[in-house]
Amino acid sequence: MSLLRYGARFLQGKGKACQVILVPRRWKKTKKKWHVPHTQRKMEPSFNALKHFDDNYRHQFGDAWPSIRLGLLSSQKYGALINNYCLVEETEELMKKLGAKDFVQPVAEELEKMNIQDMMEEDSSISDSEHTDLDSNQVLEDSSSLFQEHTDINRIDSENLTRQETMFADKQSSLEEQYIVAPGYEAKMEFLLSSDAIRNTELNTSVVPETEIKRIQKPLSISKHLRCFIPEDINTARFPASKMDSHGVFLQYYAMDAASVLPVIALGISPGDVVLDMCAAPGGKSLAITQTMFIGGLVANEPESSRRRRLKSVLRSYIGFDESNLDVRITAEDGCEWGTMEPDTYDKVLVDVPCTTDRLSASNNTNSIFAVNRTNERWQLPKLQSDLLCAGLQAVKPGGDVIYSTCSLSNQQNDAVVESALYQCQTDLNIEVAVVDLSPLTQCLGHIFHFSDNIRHGQLVLPNLKNNFGPMYFCKLHRVA
Ligand SMILES: C[S@@+](CC[C@H](N)C(=O)[O-])C[C@H]1O[C@@H](n2cnc3c(N)ncnc32)[C@H](O)[C@@H]1O
Repeated sequence: MSLLRYGARFLQGKGKACQVILVPRRWKKTKKKWHVPHTQRKMEPSFNALKHFDDNYRHQFGDAWPSIRLGLLSSQKYGALINNYCLVEETEELMKKLGAKDFVQPVAEELEKMNIQDMMEEDSSISDSEHTDLDSNQVLEDSSSLFQEHTDINRIDSENLTRQETMFADKQSSLEEQYIVAPGYEAKMEFLLSSDAIRNTELNTSVVPETEIKRIQKPLSISKHLRCFIPEDINTARFPASKMDSHGVFLQYYAMDAASVLPVIALGISPGDVVLDMCAAPGGKSLAITQTMFIGGLVANEPESSRRRRLKSVLRSYIGFDESNLDVRITAEDGCEWGTMEPDTYDKVLVDVPCTTDRLSASNNTNSIFAVNRTNERWQLPKLQSDLLCAGLQAVKPGGDVIYSTCSLSNQQNDAVVESALYQCQTDLNIEVAVVDLSPLTQCLGHIFHFSDNIRHGQLVLPNLKNNFGPMYFCKLHRVA
């Protein structure tokens, strides 16, 4: 009888060979054939994905899992990344009509204030400050005005940054580094207990207890040009298709999950930076990188040809990319090879790895990583992710930064991969890496994105019904030497 509680019902055959069978209530019989509703079809990738998520994430997230699950299965909310190569005033006007507001620049301003405040506090602790009798808001205003004197935007940004860099030089040199011992044993057990990891023996051997992980604080500056608008109305999930401005050359905005802009923000691109986007297609994050208007060069890499075509088309429609463009290059390499191909080369590297794309996999059956014929590929994901991250850490210059990101909720694809790569850097690659604390950024964004408080190294945006963005995990790693 308990099966009835799960939606089963009795069907009784006729005559002597009377049989009782139990079928789910939602199944319908049409023309002697059973019509099995979409969500009930076992072996469909989305069914496998949800089952896998339920099995794993209810342990990982406990009581929070049902609400995250609901967010994952509900309409995603979008952001509109503004294209600076268009007439920005026209796009702003359109955004106003759509009731959307930029979330990036308010955060940029808040971070700048926090940075200045930190600097002031440090100043006053060093000498008996002359500022002590001033109202602190006044101090902030005065200092902010330092950053608003000039008229040429690019010049302002680079000058500000140089000034900020000098001001922060002392601060950084006196950074208090916290050493924490990674809970390796715990991580390894969690890892071993997950069904995927059991089959992934190669990665099991690289997650080692007692790894020392260095944590640092680093001031973060966001380009004044990067803007992403999100609808204020919580029920508006989508933007209309992007159109060209009145010049008729480029598209006005790129609609994407607003959480996907966060790894680019966290990368903290400075004027003149040469950036590698190791896994770039379809191109949302590469485009966001170009919209900082800061880059000295961008290499956007994608080994899969159909996805590379999409990447080219995005960069062509938004910034007029063509093959002769020297600032932006599109390549087709296996990212894992970058460490040997171009070691110590880039100022910033984005490693936005292939993952289980949880939101997509929960509802989509086309080319899903949860399809039975892709099972092996799925089991090998953490190993591939770790190799790509190690290659990124080799490709970045000492003193540069790497962002590792996924759109999965899985601890095995997020924190565990970071731990595995850090261990490999220490043992095999002779690279010194520190995890950068991103909490000042997430504090400023807490009213828009729902961040998990249960993550060791990075930050994880959890889907939720109020502002349904993510999942998006991102972790910032600074190559010390
Ligand atoms: C999560 S997607 C990247 C999304 C992209 N960063 C964006 O924002 O639009 C991961 C990409 O990595 C690519 N990829 C798979 N294996 C790779 C490898 N070995 N090296 C580099 N890229 C790889 C996949 O084809 C896929 O396009």
